[in-house]
This record gives sequence, C-alpha cells and structure tokens, in this order.
Amino acid sequence: MFRFETAGESHGECLVATLTGLPADIPISIQAINHELWRRQQGYGRGGRMKIETDQAEVVAGVRHSKTIGAPIAILIRNRDWKNWTEILPVERIEGGGEAKPVTRPRPGHADLAGCIKYNFHDARYVLERASARETTARVAVGAIAKALLGAFGIEVLSHVIAVGAERLQRQATWEEIVANSRKTEVLLGCVDPETEGRMKEAVDVAYRTGDTIGGIFEVVARNVPVGLGSHITWDSRLDGRLAQAIVSMQAVKGVEVGSAEEQAASYGSKVQDTIHYDKEDHRFFRGANKAGGLEGGITNGSDIYVRGFLKPISTLRRPLESVDLETRDPAAAAYERSDVCVVPAAGVIGEAMVAIVLAQAFLEKFGGDSLAETRRNFDGYLQQVREF
Ligand SMILES: Cc1cc2nc3c(=O)[nH]c(=O)nc-3n(C[C@H](O)[C@H](O)[C@H](O)COP(=O)(O)O)c2cc1C
Repeated sequence: MFRFETAGESHGECLVATLTGLPADIPISIQAINHELWRRQQGYGRGGRMKIETDQAEVVAGVRHSKTIGAPIAILIRNRDWKNWTEILPVERIEGGGEAKPVTRPRPGHADLAGCIKYNFHDARYVLERASARETTARVAVGAIAKALLGAFGIEVLSHVIAVGAERLQRQATWEEIVANSRKTEVLLGCVDPETEGRMKEAVDVAYRTGDTIGGIFEVVARNVPVGLGSHITWDSRLDGRLAQAIVSMQAVKGVEVGSAEEQAASYGSKVQDTIHYDKEDHRFFRGANKAGGLEGGITNGSDIYVRGFLKPISTLRRPLESVDLETRDPAAAAYERSDVCVVPAAGVIGEAMVAIVLAQAFLEKFGGDSLAETRRNFDGYLQQVREF
C-alpha cells in the first residue's frame, strides 16, 4: 500500500516526508520535484516568507540512479528561515531559557486555541508551527513522486484557479489552456483567462489596501485516468470520498466539489446525468457530457476527473481580530505573524499533489506490483480486458 507521512515545524530545521509502497523503477527527477515546489511558492498575494524560502528537495533514501528502488523514500526540504529560529525552537532546552517568542493571543480561524487546550500548552507556538501550511511543501514533494508514477501510465494532473473572492471564471477552461497556464514562468493568479485574472488581481489589491485577506476556488483536472479506480463496495473505497478527504485536509480548504456538484444540486435529474452511448465502429462507450467529474458510484468512469477546492480567506489579518490573552484572559488583538494575503494558485498546486497521491494509491491498489514492469503488465492486461468487454 502506498502511504506517506510528513514531519516538520514551519520554522524548524526542515520538513521531511517518507513514502512507502511504491514499485521499483519509477523514473524520478529532482528537477521535476523542485519545479513543483517552485510552483507552490508562486502567485500574487504571498507574504514575505516565500521570499526567504526557495524550496529544494533532498531525496536521501529510496531513489538511486534516478529511479525508485522499492525501498521507503525519504525527502528532506530545509527551512532557510531556521537560522533565525535556533534559539526560539531548539530541540534541546537551552540553559538560561533561549529566546522565547510565545504566542498567547490565539488567532481566530487557526488551530491556536483548540490546539492549546487539547495539548495543554499555554503558548500556541508549538500548535501553529505544525498547523501551518508550510507542511504542504512536503505534500507537494510526495505529490511529484505520485505524478511520476501516474505519468509513466500517461495520467496527468494539473490545476487552475477559477475564483478569487467574488471574481470568477465564467466558462470551462480547456485542457490546452490549463497546460499552457501551468507552464508559465511568471504566475499571477493562475487563471486561464487574462481578463478575469486582472479582476482577480484587483480583488487581491483591495485586500492588501485594507489589511484584509481573500480566498477562492481552484480546480484540479486529471486526464487519461482508466475506468475502474476506486470502488462502490465500501464507504472508504469510494474514490470521490477519498479525494474529498484529501482536498479538505488542506489548510484553509473548507469545501470540495466533485464534478459540477453545485450546479447539479440546483438542477433537475434529467439535466445533470452523463448519458451513455456506444461507438460500434470504435468499440467503445462514450458519454454525452462529464458533469460527474469522472466519478460514478465512487469509481472512475474513464472521463477526466474534476475536483474543486474552496478556500476560506487566510485567517491571520494585519488588522487583527478580537481574541483573548491566554495569560491574563483579558480581551486582546489576535497575534500577527508574517502572513499571506491570497494563496489560491498555491493551493491549486497542493490540490494537484493531493489528487495525484490519492490516484496513485488507487492505481497501485488495482494494479499492484513490486516493479514498474510488473505494474505495467497488470495495467496492460486490464486494458486488454476493458477493450474486450
Ligand atoms: C498555501 C497556503 C498558505 C497559507 N498561508 C497562511 C498564512 O500565511 N497565514 C495564515 O494565517 N494562514 C495561512 N494558511 C491557512 C492556514 O494554514 C489555515 O487556515 C490554518 O492552519 C487553520 O486550518 P483550517 O483553515 O484548515 O481550519 C495557508 C494555507 C495554504 C493552503
């Protein structure tokens, strides 16, 4: 089973990811991993931290001669900011105390207060260090490896931004537009339509001017996914549910949509199902539309997968919200740490990683194999069975 874990504090030494259960012989490019890390750091509205960090993956186990060897993979991404935090977050207590930077005014919308009560801390520092979306750097590195596996079978996963605040793309983007958008070397807000993107930028500028923050919606699209990943047979094998969990597990994501769920909820049944057709010359089934987003009954149906993530606006505001001081219990303005104003394009990249990871898990559940050759044999055999169906 393909599994991963991440460890690391936002201002600690580094982030670490370990991955197990991948077959041997998957081609791995460090440059490709670093390119995904770079994409996660882009977008108009990022805070000062992204100027300090230029994330680079160090793969320290499980990959040799640019290929997986079937052993657990370990990836390390150093925090360049760590040098400024050695006294604040030392591993071993510093005699005399070191330099403390306690956070006693929990920020609404963060794990700060609930985390302090749960773990019995009177300083939210340890909570916010781990709750921070800096953790997603490790997820994106894992996602790059999942993409390498999927890519070996022709499956591609990309994202684009469809809304920032109330500014929304009013049409469906084509795959070609999404590909061109993801290849840009300068990222504004990750929208395929320049005019809409301009309005999105104006909305972010309003947030900058007023000390506020802004959320939005990203869409992840997966192409060339074979029919039959995931299953209808148990609640936790349904792939739509697994994708939803992966997307909502992302920091600041509060909602998920599979296919055109919102539109469907407001329509009649006759308008929203993807009718079934058969091409007798080509010997294949095809659909009248793809409103289901490539998933029916928790199983991929061979159409492209569409999943959207809904981000709330970032919780840390330059104009701090009301809170209470944990020491005095008096009303106090919430703590402020250097913060992003808009992260929707970056969230899209993280969403890609999460979708790629879930698809890679479902792919390996179905096709298995200890080496890529074995996985490919199983995959090709299944495709043959589908062709003969
Ligand atoms: C890419 C990304 C960057 C983020 N940057 C910040 C930030 O700079 N400041 C902040 O307060 N929250 C930021 N967040 C959101 C918080 O991590 C998140 O809201 C918080 O951990 C609480 O979790 P929840 O919103 O999922 O409930 C970011 C989220 C993402 C996806």
